[in-house]
Amino acid sequence: MQIIHTINELNTWRKQQQIAFVPTMGNLHAGHLALVKAAKEHAEHVVVSIFVNPLQFGQGEDYSSYPRTLQEDADKLIECGVDVLFAPDVKELYPHTNQDYCVEPPALQHELCGRFRPGHFRGVATVVLKLFNIVRPDFACFGKKDYQQLAIIQGMVADLNVPVTIIPVDTGRDIDGLALSSRNGYLSPQERVIAPQLYQMLCWVRDELIAGRRDFASLQTDAMMKLNQQGWQTDYIEIRDAKTLEKANENHHDIVILAASRLSNTRLIDNLEVHI
Ligand code: PAF
Repeated sequence: MQIIHTINELNTWRKQQQIAFVPTMGNLHAGHLALVKAAKEHAEHVVVSIFVNPLQFGQGEDYSSYPRTLQEDADKLIECGVDVLFAPDVKELYPHTNQDYCVEPPALQHELCGRFRPGHFRGVATVVLKLFNIVRPDFACFGKKDYQQLAIIQGMVADLNVPVTIIPVDTGRDIDGLALSSRNGYLSPQERVIAPQLYQMLCWVRDELIAGRRDFASLQTDAMMKLNQQGWQTDYIEIRDAKTLEKANENHHDIVILAASRLSNTRLIDNLEVHI
């Protein structure tokens, strides 16, 4: 008999076949396929889930209109050599009308996107923990495009001792810089042409920081004003510590600039890491 004293040792003992997991809401694009590629680099077996999670959508958000393209998605995953596609319906994951037990993330859930999407990160953390408990992966891949989501999942996994290693994957971008997102499909052709302005604004803030600017609050305001003058309605552009996501000051050197802004009804998010 083995006597095991640490969680790490217990996990090592439990592992027989390694599983890397990619949770998604479907409508897969090249950004998702990059997550699958990263998953394949970490484990022999890859599981992808497709589930449009009602718990993370607020009232008036796009839950019912969110693109559902299961057959096309499955074809793409077959081509990528994915082992299992887990595509439960709502009743399978939420058999009761109420989800009585939820994961309550810390205060960060009310900041940045959380200010504009109350309850969103509670819904994300809850479904991700449920999926982790169902799939029991060794690794799980999340895109850095959803930077705050990634930070909240990393915090949840650390604080609740969830036995999974989170693999952050860089944001995939179109040739003009626009971050790949299922919601880009909502953009009209004219909006698609100007959508890269969001990324360009992040690059401008990055360049100002690299040039030595440290008045973070007015830099954020300037960037928001510039973007709004181009026809955007900006929820926030914020300069934060890349690791903790606390508001950055001159003592922080690993920075992330995060933004959420709307082109008519389409809300886009993006972010850029910078070392200063
Ligand atoms: O990023 C997403 O697609 C979703 O928030 C996730 C992680 C699959 C949870 O529903």
